[in-house]
Formats: sequence, structure tokens, C-alpha cells
Amino acid sequence: MKIDYSLVTRRTFLNALLSGWFFAFFSGVFYALIKFAFPTIGKEPDFVVLDINDFKDIPPNSVKPFAWGGKVGLFFKKADGATTALKGLCTHMECNITYKQEDRKFYCACHEGWFDENGKNIKGPPPKPLEFFDIKIEGEKIIVLKKGIKVDLSKV
Ligand code: FES
Repeated sequence: MKIDYSLVTRRTFLNALLSGWFFAFFSGVFYALIKFAFPTIGKEPDFVVLDINDFKDIPPNSVKPFAWGGKVGLFFKKADGATTALKGLCTHMECNITYKQEDRKFYCACHEGWFDENGKNIKGPPPKPLEFFDIKIEGEKIIVLKKGIKVDLSKV
């Protein structure tokens, strides 16, 4: 069966093509403007300040999450009572990790990655250890900061 007329006219086709091009162009311009206006979106902080009262009662061999920018940080009290903090993201593809108390290991469910309690990648696809932070306690504040970052605590 032959159709004698086209369902899509040349004008309709060109209008759709031009509309698509305008949409793509202005989406790019809009994205660039947003990144210019808010340059810290998606970036991690160098440090965060936490209230010590939120973390002083966590039991040994457990973690408590905190906001690390737009991502998850974990305040970690080891079985021996030592405290530390780490980024709560897997080093493979940045899925959130969980702490398995019974195994004393960190686990990533995305691709079954495992890390020991010191953050060393021991099983699965994660290519490198977890990222640990430095901790400074100043009065009622806990300052969690990236390793190697210097912070003037008098200004915090
Ligand atoms: S994202 Fe964690 S193992 Fe792949």
C-alpha cells in the first residue's frame, strides 16, 4: 500500500530540529550559569564542624553518620574505643558504605566491596582504601577535616 502524503511535513521536521537545537543550546547556557553562580555545588568541604554532644555517646564498634558537604561522613568508634572519621563512600563508584559490626568491616552493597576496619580494601572491586579524615576536638566542637588541611580553629 502506498501512502500519497507524508505525516511529517518538511516544515514540521525543520521546526522539531530547530527546537531541539535551541533546547540543547539553552540547557548548556543555563547549566554554565548555575555553575558560575554556585561554584561550590557538588564540591566537598575541606572541613566540617560537629557538635560533640551528638557523638560522645556512640558505643564502641559502631559508626554514626554526619553530613560531609552533600555526601556522607562516618564518625567511627573502634572496638578499642579509638575514634576516627571517614568518608562514607566506596572508592569504586562512590556508593554509600555500611559498617558490619559483627565482622568489624565496612561493606559496599553495590558490587560487594569490603574494607577492613582500617579502611583497607580487602575484597571486591574497590581499587583503593577508604578516605579517613583528621579529627580535632575544640571545646564542644569536633572539627573533621581532610588530611593535610590546616584550619585556624580560632576562626571556626
Ligand atoms: S561501588 Fe562499591 S564496590 Fe562498586
